[in-house]
Amino acid sequence: MNTPKISQQEIINAFNFRHATKEFDATKKIADADINFILETAQLSPSSFGFEPWHFIVVQDKELRELLKPVAWGAPVKLDTASHFVLGLSMKAPMVKWDSEYIMHMMKEVKQLPEDVIEMYTKFYREFQERDFNLDNDKKMFDWASKQTYIALGNMMTSAALTGIDSCPIEGFHQEKAEALLREKFGVDTDKYGLSFMVAFGYRKADPEFPKSRRNIEDIVSWK
Ligand SMILES: Cc1cc2nc3c(=O)[nH]c(=O)nc-3n(C[C@H](O)[C@H](O)[C@H](O)COP(=O)(O)O)c2cc1C
Repeated sequence: MNTPKISQQEIINAFNFRHATKEFDATKKIADADINFILETAQLSPSSFGFEPWHFIVVQDKELRELLKPVAWGAPVKLDTASHFVLGLSMKAPMVKWDSEYIMHMMKEVKQLPEDVIEMYTKFYREFQERDFNLDNDKKMFDWASKQTYIALGNMMTSAALTGIDSCPIEGFHQEKAEALLREKFGVDTDKYGLSFMVAFGYRKADPEFPKSRRNIEDIVSWK
């Protein structure tokens, strides 16, 4: 494996290039290899204990995109113009609680851990959830999984920008209505998964304002 050698200048350029794209050029499509690359950076993202509490639905079907519009006020223009439109789902308590079938599946089949390590991990994971993070209700558990799914979101948007692809993260939706839709029309088991965010990918229709408006670095970082 090679040590990355991308220059800081290139990376900062990509961070400046990335902006919340309000409207995409609907005539431009992201190549399959490029969107698969972006999704691979979600797959490679870090997660707590490595349990990957997420799922991504790439919505390319026009009718399904139409159905999302009434429940997602922040998304209509993006649903019409984005090359690819992704729903970021996070796992709920029945999936990520320390004693769930899914966690056992991850340890046994995916990570192929030996029995004694599984036992040790289970104990740590339980203590972490119950004692350290006090994840004592479904909402807290989902929000905790969501925090991790947002890491994958950040990585996807950055990797898109590094390859000249635009994106827009979207939280402008009604959570309950959107989840009802996912249950009824997208075949999502909403006992197990909730909707954390939407994210659109494509190519900008117009350039954004530059430079970006941001607080000063001294106001957001303190050194002790
Ligand atoms: C979690 C999250 C949710 C957002 N939701 C929306 C949205 O629903 N619609 C939208 O147009 N922009 C949305 N944005 C984009 C922000 O408004 C934007 O990132 C911010 O104003 C900074 O601008 P920039 O990303 O262009 O640098 C969202 C951003 C984040 C991180």
